[in-house]
Amino acid sequence: MRDREEGPQLNLLQRFSDAFLKDINLGVLLISMDFTLADVSDRATQILGMDREHILNKSLDEIFATVPSQHKLVQRTVLHGAVVRNHAVSWTNNMERFELLLDSNVLKDSQGNIVGAYVIFKDVTNMRSLEEMVQRSDRLAMIGQIAAGTAHEIRNPLTSIKGFLQVLRRTFELQGMNKEQSYTEVMLEEINRINELVNEFLLLSKPKHVSYERIDVTEVLRGILPIINNEAILYSVHLQYEASSHLPEVIADRELLKQVFLNICKNGIEAMSDGGMLTISEKVDIVDRNVCIDIHDTGSGIPMFVIDKIFDPFFTTKDTGTGLGLSVCQRIIHDMGGTIRVSSKGFGTTFTISIPYA
Ligand SMILES: Nc1ncnc2c1ncn2[C@@H]1O[C@H](COP(=O)(O)OP(=O)(O)OP(=O)(O)O)[C@@H](O)[C@H]1O
Ligand SMILES: [Mg+2]
Repeated sequence: MRDREEGPQLNLLQRFSDAFLKDINLGVLLISMDFTLADVSDRATQILGMDREHILNKSLDEIFATVPSQHKLVQRTVLHGAVVRNHAVSWTNNMERFELLLDSNVLKDSQGNIVGAYVIFKDVTNMRSLEEMVQRSDRLAMIGQIAAGTAHEIRNPLTSIKGFLQVLRRTFELQGMNKEQSYTEVMLEEINRINELVNEFLLLSKPKHVSYERIDVTEVLRGILPIINNEAILYSVHLQYEASSHLPEVIADRELLKQVFLNICKNGIEAMSDGGMLTISEKVDIVDRNVCIDIHDTGSGIPMFVIDKIFDPFFTTKDTGTGLGLSVCQRIIHDMGGTIRVSSKGFGTTFTISIPYA
């Protein structure tokens, strides 16, 4: 029994712990000795996507039964005194991914006997994605440097091979050696493919002849609509363009901007092998002063475990893909001071390209 004097103090502690579980922006799990959940904070129930009534006093084995062990927020060892500090865990709830930082420890009574344990976690999703962006742009910069050097070294010999092949082709033609002439044609086509790849490589490093000017995004999109439509027809995809009137102008390189839209539309179309709808729409974000272009497809969507990688150079899930498309787009938009975001929840995918307006 507690002394009378401890009354008000206890009251204050009780109030604090109540407030802690209700208001504070932290996930808290209190665990009893029998590995059941004794209490849980409101924020934890939100992140976990579980009802308090459903999980209170339930065994944690049962609560996390469907979760792979590396994503479990509570391990049984916590009751054996295993202390955890700043442990990073990813948690997925209803297709939304949370990056959590987790602390846990035991609770002891005055004799030092373990009577339970607690787990406290903080949602650091935004911080983590910033960190990833920094890492990604570091990696891109490095790949860019290597690419620039390599591309240059590949191009020079290619030019002379191409030159001599053209001479050979002409000779074969003059001598009526049709078979040999057709071989040289195949070789020249293949060389052109290598050249195109090298060009993309060079774009990754630093676009060479960038000319920034005031650009009307609607006009750029209208200009490339026929090209996108041609591609769409091949895949039985319907194309819909929702232009918005009076978009503010952006400062960008026209050709590069076209390339970004084409790449992302092409990806969308390629994701709809059984047909579907590609929708391009525009809006203005007055708060952040951006022009935003949404490119939405009704395709297969992007699995959670893939979505982090799609902007990495050479990441592809396609047999004939180079995996450079999105990393080049990212580079181009990044250089304009904009961002590309992707959301793929449930059905289809939306890429949002935001570019600051003039
Ligand atoms: N709209 C989309 N729907 C589904 N998956 C997509 C979509 N856009 C991109 N992806 C995924 O991202 C990966 C990387 O795309 P990226 O454009 O960088 O390369 P790629 O399309 O595979 O190759 P390339 O662009 O060189 O032809 C794709 O292989 C695909 O798995
Ligand atoms: Mg692509």
